[in-house]
Amino acid sequence: MQDAGFVRQAFASIARRYVVANHVLSLGIDCLWRRTTSKRIAKLAPKRVLDLATGSGDLAQAVQAACPDAKVLGADFSVPMMREAQIRHFHRLVAADGMALPFQDGAFDVLTVGFGLRNMASWPKALQEMSRVLRPGGRLFVLDFSIPRVPGIRQLYLFYLKHIMPRIAGWITCQRGAYEYLCGSIERFPSGKEMEELICANGFQSAHGTALTFGIASLYEAQKQS
Ligand SMILES: C[S@@+](CC[C@H](N)C(=O)[O-])C[C@H]1O[C@@H](n2cnc3c(N)ncnc32)[C@H](O)[C@@H]1O
Repeated sequence: MQDAGFVRQAFASIARRYVVANHVLSLGIDCLWRRTTSKRIAKLAPKRVLDLATGSGDLAQAVQAACPDAKVLGADFSVPMMREAQIRHFHRLVAADGMALPFQDGAFDVLTVGFGLRNMASWPKALQEMSRVLRPGGRLFVLDFSIPRVPGIRQLYLFYLKHIMPRIAGWITCQRGAYEYLCGSIERFPSGKEMEELICANGFQSAHGTALTFGIASLYEAQKQS
């Protein structure tokens, strides 16, 4: 659970360098994770997709490219982050807080949230809102960082997360403090079975997580309870 005011301020401060920092810190692998997510979504042939916590719109654009017939909408509570999406020519955007979405019940077939749920003030409340705006049977895709479980890789990654990532991100964005928070939030965020249970306790069924790149990221797919 995070302090919304702090999170908003942190993203406003890194907005202009967010995409560059992402690609450098992940060596471009973040693009592959978004592509994997959009390929899965394309199989569902959705008509209405909400990308919550869209930020710079990278995931929204990947989903739109994979699903040309869908209407993909991005929503975020940070206007400076969404300005980056506009610069990247993604314009279907709405300013909205994940805790109280300005959409009718059942408005979407698919909802995606990439690296966003982790930063929200209440994970259960955010998931319940996501469930509310999905149609019965609609699908949720949560893409986020996780900590690898394989011994050796786990220790190496934790060292990178605590000591290297905030330093490199600090050089790129001049906002080391924001990345110290973001890196710390990854360790506190549930993953694997724990995340599947959290999703199923808040309006969804059959949540299933897939570890990506040794478990550095995870993609969870779930269906809205009917
Ligand atoms: C790490 S960025 C992710 C951007 C994008 N989804 C991606 O794949 O790179 C996290 C985004 O979550 C947004 N966010 C955090 N809490 C939010 C909330 N309660 N409601 C809406 N957006 C939120 C932030 O403003 C930020 O743009």
